[in-house]
Amino acid sequence: MKLRDAELHAQGASQFTDDLLHPEGTLAVYPAVSSIARGIIEKIDTEPAFAHVGVIAVFTAADIPGVNQIGNFSADEVLLAEKEVVYLGQPIALVVAETGEIARQAAASVVVDYQSLPAVFDARTADKMGLHIAPRRLFSCGDVEAAWAGCDLIVEGSAVTGAQEHMYLETQNAIAYPLENNGLRVFSATQSPGGTQRSIARVLGLPMHAVEVDVVRLGGGFGGKEEQATAFAVMAALASHHLQRIVKISLRRDEDYRLTGKRHPYEADFKIGLDRSGKILAYRADFFQNAGAIADLSPPILERSLFHAGNSYFIPNMQVSAVSCRTNLPPNTAFRGFGGPQAMYVLESAIFKAADKMGVDASRIQEVNLLREGQHFYYGMQARRCMATACWREAQSRFALQQRQLEIDAFNAAHKLEKKGIAIMPICFGISFTSTFLNQADALLHVYGDGSVSVSCGAVEMGQGVKQKIGQVVSVVFGIDEQRVKVESTNTTRIANMSPTAASTGADLNGQAARLAALQIKQRLIDLAAARLGGVDASEITFEREQVCRQGQPTELSWNRLVSLAYLSRTALSAEVHYATPELFFDRTKEQGQPFAYHVYGCAAVEVTLDCLRGRYRIDSVKVVHDDGQPLDVMVDCGQIEGGIVQGLGWMTLEEVLFDDSGRLLTDNLTAYKIPDMHFAPDIDVHFLASATNPPGLMHSKAVGEPPLMYGIAAYFALCKAIRAFIPAWQPDFRAPMTPEKVLLALYQKQHPDA
Ligand code: MTE
Ligand code: HPA
Ligand code: MOS
Repeated sequence: MKLRDAELHAQGASQFTDDLLHPEGTLAVYPAVSSIARGIIEKIDTEPAFAHVGVIAVFTAADIPGVNQIGNFSADEVLLAEKEVVYLGQPIALVVAETGEIARQAAASVVVDYQSLPAVFDARTADKMGLHIAPRRLFSCGDVEAAWAGCDLIVEGSAVTGAQEHMYLETQNAIAYPLENNGLRVFSATQSPGGTQRSIARVLGLPMHAVEVDVVRLGGGFGGKEEQATAFAVMAALASHHLQRIVKISLRRDEDYRLTGKRHPYEADFKIGLDRSGKILAYRADFFQNAGAIADLSPPILERSLFHAGNSYFIPNMQVSAVSCRTNLPPNTAFRGFGGPQAMYVLESAIFKAADKMGVDASRIQEVNLLREGQHFYYGMQARRCMATACWREAQSRFALQQRQLEIDAFNAAHKLEKKGIAIMPICFGISFTSTFLNQADALLHVYGDGSVSVSCGAVEMGQGVKQKIGQVVSVVFGIDEQRVKVESTNTTRIANMSPTAASTGADLNGQAARLAALQIKQRLIDLAAARLGGVDASEITFEREQVCRQGQPTELSWNRLVSLAYLSRTALSAEVHYATPELFFDRTKEQGQPFAYHVYGCAAVEVTLDCLRGRYRIDSVKVVHDDGQPLDVMVDCGQIEGGIVQGLGWMTLEEVLFDDSGRLLTDNLTAYKIPDMHFAPDIDVHFLASATNPPGLMHSKAVGEPPLMYGIAAYFALCKAIRAFIPAWQPDFRAPMTPEKVLLALYQKQHPDA
């Protein structure tokens, strides 16, 4: 099947926000930002900015007509700092100029006097000081404390995962156009057009109907534009509103690195207890999330960590707690997996350590603890159509993993300076926003007189192929060619109150709404056709290959003919439908409920080869059995799985975000911050679990956007095993990422300077 955007992308003809035509005279805005991590603002002197030729205006918090507040989940985020700064890079003033370069230079000349205050950058220190975004939350089942007594083995430890830079190809950008009567049309590279609209309206003191936000597509978001695109859109909007000019903002790569938050670093303490057979009887983990200076999405991310702390295992006694710690880093934010990967890594570390003590391979423990049909998750939900064991077994047999382990053992015995390792990662990921109210979507569908179809919905295309899927669903309902269906830009005037495109739910939620809207129009057309064909039974009528069929046989009515008859007979050819995922609930006083429509399962084996002389390594292969339901588009989903895996591998191995002790980002370029490239990417063999169905999904499909990232976690443990093959006594410290530098130090038993 041809991908909708592929041809345009290949020709460089697809439009991103920054490509939109803008007339001569369009202005640029750029923020003057804090140069310290924490302090009281004593004075802001914007005068020096005006010395730059081409500067049009400078705005500070005093120029905000509405409320200086852009926080969506918590109202703790000012657009422009007024009294205090809480992270290095926090916007303080906005400089508007004829060009971006002038605005940047002038912004750098704004003088801010601070009374500098001590800053905190790590979560545990913040926790000790009582600096919390929200109080600790605790999920539990059974009785952990009582369970320890019955365990044959108890292992304790701690684990750490690092931040991750989103590295979307398109940096943060927006352009705002003034309309009559104080209205604004803002094109923004955001995953959340609705949230962006709300924030612009609030900051400008306008009703939401005065603000139209439109998104054609994103050059990647990965969660980094769920919340953090908003500030930049509001900056353009504020300037445009005051000056009644078109105003643009577009970050350079290094600016995007420095001004935006990343995946949350986590620290955790764990304790795991098992019986002799490897059954996990009790697990306790306490997570410390490094939220950065502002709530952003930290609380829901923390919540998802708690939901995924048990991964795809059944553990009868569990107690997991997590606290969001306020530090003076830029606000950390959503990133593919949304707190799930951080928690799952900790349990895998605990299992690895326990396996070590038992003298067995971790896969032994993984296997005997896999979640089974009908068992309950510790947060109350029952596992239905549980595919954990099915994926595991299929991976074992299809990829002959035991045989592979033997071959690796033989290889390691035969090679002195080259060692291999293989590790398995089962996954289980819940699909739905954990904030139940977000699980709703609308679609607006028009069938035009020529039989072509326009679909508007709240889904933002960011490379994940959501528009491909939605176009396909509508074309299937109408029995027409996909080319006839256009999926429009994501626009707040056409679709109100949309949720962000996130939580892997974009296709599920918006696709369901679009499908229901198409079905509504279809029913009207069927009734019309039935009458037209001489009062035949409507149930006999279907639409296939652009023909109206009766009992499967083409009639004289084509799709086009029927649509024009509908128009002439004044039949409504548009529909707007709302969809809300059924049966979701969660009680936060008990931390129990049914937060997800369903779970996605899978199992991957990651194999690595280590060069023990140089510390270099290669990820040789990733072999996956993935539970995708009945995929809407196999090519798109393969792309999602491969992309997610490579991103997960990068997080576990190469990608290391470092700040200096003043809170300045050191890794603000691709020389210092390594991401996977063509040469790093391994062979990825994806096998979809056969005959999987998924009644709660969109036409039995399953969401695919985030879950595959977590397969990458196996890379850490595969590397541990390869190191172990070289130094049998070596103990991992469970501090990801395992960079080549750390591997080299491990091989020669040195401490990493950051440890
Ligand atoms: N794939 C591409 N190519 N680009 C992206 O930005 N974002 C990921 C995932 N896959 C992303 C991607 C994230 S974080 C999510 S939540 C989902 O896509 C969002 O899209 P969906 O809900 O339509 O799956
Ligand atoms: N995932 C992604 N984004 C979200 C979620 C979630 O579960 N909840 C709120 N925003
Ligand atoms: Mo994805 S992290 O939910 O945008």
